[in-house]
Amino acid sequence: MSIQPCVKPEATSLRGRDLLSLYDLSKEEIDEILKTAETLKSMHYLGADYKPLKGKSLGMIFQKSSTRTRVSFEVAMWQLGGHALFLSSSDTQLGRGETIPDTARVLSRFVDGIMIRAYSHKDVELLAEYADIPVINGLTDYSHPCQVLADLFTIYEKKKKLAGLKLAFIGDGNNNMANSLLFGCTKVGMNIAIGAPKGYQPLEEVMKKAEAVAETTGSEIMITEDIFEAAKDADVLYTDVWTSMGQENERKIREEAFAGYQINEDVVKAADDEVIVMHCLPAHRGEEITHDVIEGPHSVVFDEAENRLHVQKAILTLIMG
Ligand code: CP
Ligand code: NVA
Repeated sequence: MSIQPCVKPEATSLRGRDLLSLYDLSKEEIDEILKTAETLKSMHYLGADYKPLKGKSLGMIFQKSSTRTRVSFEVAMWQLGGHALFLSSSDTQLGRGETIPDTARVLSRFVDGIMIRAYSHKDVELLAEYADIPVINGLTDYSHPCQVLADLFTIYEKKKKLAGLKLAFIGDGNNNMANSLLFGCTKVGMNIAIGAPKGYQPLEEVMKKAEAVAETTGSEIMITEDIFEAAKDADVLYTDVWTSMGQENERKIREEAFAGYQINEDVVKAADDEVIVMHCLPAHRGEEITHDVIEGPHSVVFDEAENRLHVQKAILTLIMG
């Protein structure tokens, strides 16, 4: 079946742009991505044929492991009529010391966009500086914007609104997910509470930026060590692993620091009765979340994972279409 798509990639301010951090997007641009994702998701379920990226290629550089990001970007490109190349940094010359600026300039001659998952956010900024084509951040130590766009879309699907809702993040308050949720929630007017132990609360630089955004949208930000205070009346409970990729040598010390920073039945009870429970995945059951909660009636983690595909199709269509 073929229906008229209501996406107009040629008219968007996102065309040709990099997506390195949600902080760089306006509220209107976030809305545009979510609305486009809604359209593309319905078209997908209707079996509509829409191939705005015919003949286009996306290079996908991975310095770290991935299931969702790799598969959803690759399938997204294929469904949109384009092609994705998986470029493991250990199998390319990057792994043998070729510089990021040289890699950026060479890839710019071959492909139409680059998605990169890297250890250092600075490396991704450097890649974007030297590339003549859009660069999309598929996770760095600092941020994970595509995940949070899929999260906002999932919250919108479940709650039919974003502004005024309260999201409580329990866990590592200065990892990539916490940073991106702080930017994403404040941009769309959601309230955000971070329940994190001392030493793992958001960095001052991130807080300054999020607070400045919150002033313009009316969002409230709460940082607390008390997870029940954070979870109180929350519409969304969110958590992520205690030890992120690249921090494996800190695992033991983190297990001690985060003991008790877990979404379990008691935390769910402290939240709103209709709370939804989210996790970017992969999850460590028994650490940041219990098996019963992630498998329980409030959990939306697999809808959230599916939405990576639909939201990334929107991002790719708007940026590369
Ligand atoms: N949530 C997420 O980015 O998952 P992957 O690490 O599997 O890509
Ligand atoms: N904070 C996690 C997110 C994984 C999607 C990590 O960086 O490993």
